[in-house]
Amino acid sequence: MIKIAVLVSGSGSNLQALIDANLSGQIVGVISNKPDAFALQRAEKAKIATAVIEHKQYPSREAFDDVMHQQLLDWDVDLVILAGFMRILSAKFVKAWEGKMINIHPSLLPNYKGMHTHQRVLNTGDVFHGCTVHYVTAELDAGQALAQGVLKVNVHDHAESLADRVHVLEHVIYPQVAEWICNGTIQHTVDGVLYRNQPMQAPVQFCKF
Ligand code: GAR
Repeated sequence: MIKIAVLVSGSGSNLQALIDANLSGQIVGVISNKPDAFALQRAEKAKIATAVIEHKQYPSREAFDDVMHQQLLDWDVDLVILAGFMRILSAKFVKAWEGKMINIHPSLLPNYKGMHTHQRVLNTGDVFHGCTVHYVTAELDAGQALAQGVLKVNVHDHAESLADRVHVLEHVIYPQVAEWICNGTIQHTVDGVLYRNQPMQAPVQFCKF
């Protein structure tokens, strides 16, 4: 059975969706860089091991990442799921977990990498918005996209309403992709990413409109 660690910084609603999905893999631990993250309470309620590794207590990004790396090795983790983990990871850490680490980002990548995605979508006047699950590579928000949830922006939408609507999609696509990795539907190989044993050409789309 695939052993999963989830890295969080905040509320952890995506962690909750992963817990509730009863994946065929096992969530063996949750790491937070923030001691007051509500996600930690969710993990404890689900009887999942937690580790608080505060980035502020380490002299460099690399030193912080080394401690996380060791925790993941101690838990014998096969898959790392970033779920609202708001730290940029060092190239060394990303390399160590390449092909074994996924992230969810609140935009239709490659559009709107980085922060404040909902407001930026509104500022541009885009018709479509959503979220993307992707493998993590050293370049921020740039690894191969595995799935996207797509919604239509309403005239009445503001940044908060978009964030709420994107969250609903996130809670569908993230557990789905995690399960696909757990059961081998998605495979990261030396020849690239396979989906149902075929090279993955484009992310699987989930539309809500
Ligand atoms: C999610 O919307 C996720 O897409 C975003 O943080 C939120 C976490 O919510 N992640 C990023 O912006 C990463 N760049 P949650 O704590 O309720 O799961």
